[in-house]
Amino acid sequence: MYIHCTDKELFILDKIAITAEAMEVHCFLIGGFVRDSIIGRKTKDMDVVCIGDGIALAHKVAEQFTPKPVVNYFKNFGTAQIKFQDIEIEFVGARKESYIYDSRKPQVESGTLEDDQDRRDFTINALSISLNKENFGELIDPFNGLQDIEQKIIKTPLPAIQTFSDDPLRMMRAIRFAAQLDFTIEKKTFEAIDENKERIKIVSGERIADELNKILLCNKPSIGFDLLYKTGLLKIIFPQMVELAGAEYIDGKGHKDNFYHTLQVVDNIAENTNDLWLRWAAVLHDIAKPATKKFEEGHGWTFHGHEVVGGRMVPKIFAKLKLPQNEKMRFVRKLVELHLRPISLTKENITDSAIRRLLFDAGEDFDALMTLCNADITSKNKQKVKRFLENFEIVRKRCAEVEVSDQLRNWQPPITGEIIMETFNLPPGRVVGDLKNAIREAILEGEIPNDYDAAFAFMVQKAVALGIVYK
Ligand code: CTP
Repeated sequence: MYIHCTDKELFILDKIAITAEAMEVHCFLIGGFVRDSIIGRKTKDMDVVCIGDGIALAHKVAEQFTPKPVVNYFKNFGTAQIKFQDIEIEFVGARKESYIYDSRKPQVESGTLEDDQDRRDFTINALSISLNKENFGELIDPFNGLQDIEQKIIKTPLPAIQTFSDDPLRMMRAIRFAAQLDFTIEKKTFEAIDENKERIKIVSGERIADELNKILLCNKPSIGFDLLYKTGLLKIIFPQMVELAGAEYIDGKGHKDNFYHTLQVVDNIAENTNDLWLRWAAVLHDIAKPATKKFEEGHGWTFHGHEVVGGRMVPKIFAKLKLPQNEKMRFVRKLVELHLRPISLTKENITDSAIRRLLFDAGEDFDALMTLCNADITSKNKQKVKRFLENFEIVRKRCAEVEVSDQLRNWQPPITGEIIMETFNLPPGRVVGDLKNAIREAILEGEIPNDYDAAFAFMVQKAVALGIVYK
């Protein structure tokens, strides 16, 4: 066998080979599984292409396993999947595809293995391994994909213009593989992306989002975002991020290039979290800097309110990028809105009430916020970074101390609206809300401790002042 497989994988491949032989059908492993097992990456799903009916082969292979797995098949596409333990195996008949310009729907007809390899996106994804008795395990590599793996190159098997024209999403896939595998995109392939970039517009937002998320989940997402920027794709799919690029100078004073700053923050955060949404917060934390930028005489560049404006931009950007409009989006928005708060506490004498307010506002997302702020400390001046990080650690410690005594991160008001209504025989209304707010403010300001008795006494006192009668 040319590739390294686990015993379980070999067991599956043997079953497929035996079945195919009995059916007198030629079949081959192809695509990502072959690529990843040569590279030595963890492999995921297996793609099997056969010269014939992929659905019929899948049904027969399924009979080889006990218990027999369910066969999910799609007649229209001629594909079928079975799952053995955690491994998904997809079967398809070898095909020839041709595309009509401006459409994503290919004209499909049966073909040879060679036809099938021709229609693949990259040489490293067109490698195939024979599962046939006469040459089981042999590598079939018409486009020198193996050499491209060794030389770490992303290159299309056919002229890149054609491969990208067939499916423009492949331009993003080229960049995603370059970022995931730390490969370089071959010059002609790169140039073809530049030439074809406008065609990305015919691809659905969902498929684009999927690739963006995969780029963002790489060890070093900046590689992918920088390639998206340099090929011009980013400007089409996510123009707000491109707006961050460049530095303006007035009276010899410049600001930092917020695009490359953002990429640095994203790389920093990728070292500390695999949470996709926390990584999105890093991408978007300064997104409103271009919209809020001002040059103030005698002061320099300012971006006042960029966290608030940025927060407001999050739902629109998420909608445009077909990212979810749910609590994930609200989490990202909250982090963008709060991202200056912990850092601002390093610049002043930190009062307990400022710490309490931060803990209260961040709530259960406090740790995520601190991870974002830590990643946001970037500067060419190493001394500056060191000083900021030290101050930041002081804030972190103070927060931990205040949290131990006041427990504000998952704060539940010690006095609920129901208690207020019952105590004063009040109907629901503004007064109830005013009393609740007053109690919360007193706790955050440190006037009273965060407990029931103190809050009850404060409520009664406040009610008297407001002329409310205590029953
Ligand atoms: N493929 C293609 N063009 C696409 C998508 C897929 O040519 N737009 C081919 C490639 O040969 C690819 C195979 O289909 O290897 C399987 O596709 P997919 O599962 O999307 O990608 P993988 O290469 O398996 O990698 P990953 O799972 O990381 O996406």
